[in-house]
Amino acid sequence: MRCECGKRPLDIVMSHILKVMIEEGIVPEKATLRRNSPVPLSGFYYSSLNPQFIGEQTLILLHPDFTGEVASRLADEVPEVKCVLKGSPQSTVGQLDKASGINHFEILEGDDTQINVMRTLLGEKIVLVKNQSKHHIEVAMTTEDKLVRLHNYLNNNNIKKGVAIDGMCGLGALGIYLLKCGFEKVIFNDINPEMIEALKNNLEINGISEGYEIFNLGFEDLEVGNADLCVIDAFPGVDIGEIVKKAEEMADDVVVI
Ligand SMILES: C[S@@+](CC[C@H](N)C(=O)[O-])C[C@H]1O[C@@H](n2cnc3c(N)ncnc32)[C@H](O)[C@@H]1O
Repeated sequence: MRCECGKRPLDIVMSHILKVMIEEGIVPEKATLRRNSPVPLSGFYYSSLNPQFIGEQTLILLHPDFTGEVASRLADEVPEVKCVLKGSPQSTVGQLDKASGINHFEILEGDDTQINVMRTLLGEKIVLVKNQSKHHIEVAMTTEDKLVRLHNYLNNNNIKKGVAIDGMCGLGALGIYLLKCGFEKVIFNDINPEMIEALKNNLEINGISEGYEIFNLGFEDLEVGNADLCVIDAFPGVDIGEIVKKAEEMADDVVVI
């Protein structure tokens, strides 16, 4: 099933991985890719009409029952595997809210750096680098979807492109987008210091060296006034009632992604 360039289709690679998982007894003998996938969002590969061929050292795997032994077998036997993480795709990594601690997936093998190149409606791409053991997986809505939502909000609401706040900025995609859209200044804030480190890296990678300020605070403790727009992008399920109230005091327009 190899392409002449040597790459294998993703579903063949995933089947190879599942075979190892079956042999190691961490999934039942009758396991299927749909039910026992070692990556989230498995619909991408088993439903694709155009098989995706992937190269060596490209896949980051995640499963709650991975062990050190399984991880080293996968890294040795499946050339496409770049990193093996232990954890549940349902758990939030990073910091859920002000009352929570910081969670990580455990790295069992390899390097968890992931680079996402995102298309935008500006015709310009945004590059986001993350460490998948520390950064949340966008399951409910992809970051590209969020950028489209923000783009439509700006287009439909005639927002002044002065000062914007990206109040829970994470890796910085939304604020970076606002700067690329022409906002004079973006105030980035996130409660998790690991996100702030990633944000600084992403600003540099996207060629942004001015027009921003960075805070590492709970949004509840951020004191900024007179902004034109505040963007709130909390994790699903977090109660953002107070956060939105505070955003409305600080900015003329508030958009909840
Ligand atoms: C869904 S993510 C944001 C994703 C972000 N738009 C991006 O491009 O990566 C939610 C973010 O909210 C941050 N967060 C959680 N509680 C917070 C709070 N009380 N104040 C500020 N940030 C918070 C988390 O650290 C996380 O980075």
